[in-house]
Amino acid sequence: MDPPPVWIMRQAGRYLPEYRELRTRSKNFLEFCYSPALATEAVMQPLRRYPLDAAILFSDILVVPDALGRKVWFVEGEGPRLSPLIEEETWRFDDVTRGIQRLAPVYEAVERIRAAIPDDIALIGFCGGPWTVATYMLQGEGGEKDRARRAIYERPEEVDDLLSVLVEMSAQHLAAQVSAGADCVQIFESWAEGLTPHQFQRVVLEPTRKLVNRLRELGVSVPIIGFPRGSGAQLGAYAHKTGVTALGIDTQTPAEFAIQVAPERMPLQGNLDPQVLIVGGEALDRATRDVMHSFKSAPHIFNLGHGITPQATPENLERLIKVVKAGV
Ligand code: CP3
Repeated sequence: MDPPPVWIMRQAGRYLPEYRELRTRSKNFLEFCYSPALATEAVMQPLRRYPLDAAILFSDILVVPDALGRKVWFVEGEGPRLSPLIEEETWRFDDVTRGIQRLAPVYEAVERIRAAIPDDIALIGFCGGPWTVATYMLQGEGGEKDRARRAIYERPEEVDDLLSVLVEMSAQHLAAQVSAGADCVQIFESWAEGLTPHQFQRVVLEPTRKLVNRLRELGVSVPIIGFPRGSGAQLGAYAHKTGVTALGIDTQTPAEFAIQVAPERMPLQGNLDPQVLIVGGEALDRATRDVMHSFKSAPHIFNLGHGITPQATPENLERLIKVVKAGV
């Protein structure tokens, strides 16, 4: 069997010494993301080391709230911080057209990256899922999402309005990336977990369906990978009802389950445990082959079930890609 195409979520990142070096050129992570030259170089680094089949734009899902006029900053070793909406009486955002103008450096980065990488490497654009981005905006940080989930009960109309703004902003953001040269896009719904079925319908399924519709309305015809991490029993509903054309599978989801609940022939992407890239050795070889095996009856894109961690080693990733390229 032909080996599946392979790319790695967060393939440009802190596990690479050359990325850590490049990262020192900008104190502020968002500034780094808004520098087309630095973003392009970050994308090129893993491509120089490994025979990957796709590159992903170097940016962050939190450029969207930043562009909407919310405060966003990154605390070294802790992660993103935003001024939490739940502490504010009225929620105000800058207008979407203005927001898209602010993201011009991101689209310039896409143009530069597309020009810099070979034609046979796909360039993936991305945005956060509306609920995932809303969660950061609501509670101002990652960690337990309880406060964001409570806001669905406490301030339902305002949460719906926030999601509508994010749907429009994200659709235009993805459309601009595609105009600039992205060959497909991925929606990172990293925080799809822990929702009641009713909430999942309201804050994940419906906004994602609207986002996909709006993208198509804007004339975007490229493939859309949806990655609803932690969606569990709702994975099938997500795959069938949102309009995404490929499905990212998280680490905990059995391949057989994904194959069973997804529409027939939908490409499935995933889902090696990122931890095994810290361990390496035969455990890594075995786990990699297991993943290929488990998805062999579906169109498969090899990837991890979540982003690569800073503790993974470049040598282990090299080993992983060799095993994938050797096929099952
Ligand atoms: O290579 C790639 O995959 C492309 C770049 C990319 C980044 N973030 C770069 C980044 C992508 C696709 C993202 C998406 C993203 N950002 C998600 C969804 C995917 C996921 O992992 O669930 C989320 C939830 C975020 C928000 C965010 N940004 C977090 C939680 C962090 C980590 C904080 C930390 O310090 O661990 C970031 C920062 C970030 N985004 C880094 C990178 C390379 C590390 C910061 C640095 O290099 O200083």
